[in-house]
Amino acid sequence: MQIGCPREIKPQEFRVGLTPNAAREAVAHGHAVLVETGAGLGAGFDDDAYIAAGARIAASADEIFAEAELVVKVKEPLAQERRRLREGQVLFTYLNLAPDPDQTCELIDSGVTAIAYETVTDDRGGLPLLAPMSEVAGRLAPQLGAWALQKANGGRGVLMGGVPGVGPAEVLVIGGGVVGTHAARIAAGMGAHVTVLDRSLLRLRQLDETFGAAFSTRYSSEGTLAELLERADMVVGAVLIPGATAPKLVRRADLARMKPGAVLVDVAIDQGGCFETSHPTTHEDPVFSVDGIQHYCVANMPGAVPRSATLALGNATMPFLLALADKGWRQACADDPHLRAGLNVHAGHLTCYAVGLAQGIDVLSPHLALKA
Ligand SMILES: NC(=O)c1ccc[n+]([C@@H]2O[C@H](COP(=O)([O-])OP(=O)(O)OC[C@H]3O[C@@H](n4cnc5c(N)ncnc54)[C@H](O)[C@@H]3O)[C@@H](O)[C@H]2O)c1
Repeated sequence: MQIGCPREIKPQEFRVGLTPNAAREAVAHGHAVLVETGAGLGAGFDDDAYIAAGARIAASADEIFAEAELVVKVKEPLAQERRRLREGQVLFTYLNLAPDPDQTCELIDSGVTAIAYETVTDDRGGLPLLAPMSEVAGRLAPQLGAWALQKANGGRGVLMGGVPGVGPAEVLVIGGGVVGTHAARIAAGMGAHVTVLDRSLLRLRQLDETFGAAFSTRYSSEGTLAELLERADMVVGAVLIPGATAPKLVRRADLARMKPGAVLVDVAIDQGGCFETSHPTTHEDPVFSVDGIQHYCVANMPGAVPRSATLALGNATMPFLLALADKGWRQACADDPHLRAGLNVHAGHLTCYAVGLAQGIDVLSPHLALKA
């Protein structure tokens, strides 16, 4: 199969859909790989790395979209990319269609078969192609929060790990899922005193069994949150209620009870944020202050580390990519219900119920789409 990987054109997107390692695997499976010149540069992969892996370099995205049977990307196709998609072609990327009716209509009209990373599932009820980005964002949160805690950056001037004779920073992580677990691990590794709050006792038990005394767990209630907020130097917001906007767990009035210069890192900002005073920021200007409390609210945190993020995403997408290329999308989706859950659009039909519900559009069952 001809696999194509264009350069990402969304502003500030430096990841790439195919690593040289993934290209090498695809070539070893007998596929032809075409990569747009410069596509990997933002993630530290030059054209020579792809050539060494057996890929060909295309001079333009036009060439990729014209030749590729399977187009692999990172972000949703922008309007100028959508115009180049066609019936019979398979697109494998993050789509996030639910809040994006324009993209949904244009993908349906194009006739393309689009498989969305974010709706591919796994045996444990997880989202295996979203998890790597949550892992990256979670591990970044204490690193970036520690920067914001520095005095010159507007923070309290507290060192995460303290020093002999001086206590460490108090870090509160709200939500002990993928982001929260990774944030807690890194904050504890930096020497901070860490507490994780969650509403799921099962999750708290798992954290306790896995991490022992590395950090404390508490059941999330308003009273516990109020108590811990007053002590915190850094709060990481990592809650998720699937399909809903994030609950506002910290209100503006709560800020007055916090230590001046404390830092809120709102990782859940991509779902609206879990602090009332949050609004999305960018890597260029990531932090703002409200009532003396620092807020870090970058909606695409993995963009800060495109090389690590690309490698992490590539590891997760590779088995699905190879299945799509080896068997064709129809057989691959017939064989694997988790990959089939990723099928969002096929040959003029929407095939994802969650998107149909969000936009009031009729949905063709993915099972029927396999026969269409
Ligand atoms: N900003 C970014 O760049 C970025 C990157 C990746 C993920 N995210 C976001 O981070 C958030 C967390 O993602 P995740 O993958 O860890 O989700 P997850 O489902 O693995 O974990 C969410 C956790 O929140 C807990 N929770 C729900 N309500 C709670 C409450 N009231 N109090 C305490 N805990 C509560 C759940 O029980 C669950 O354990 C999501 O909003 C996700 O979109 C943002």
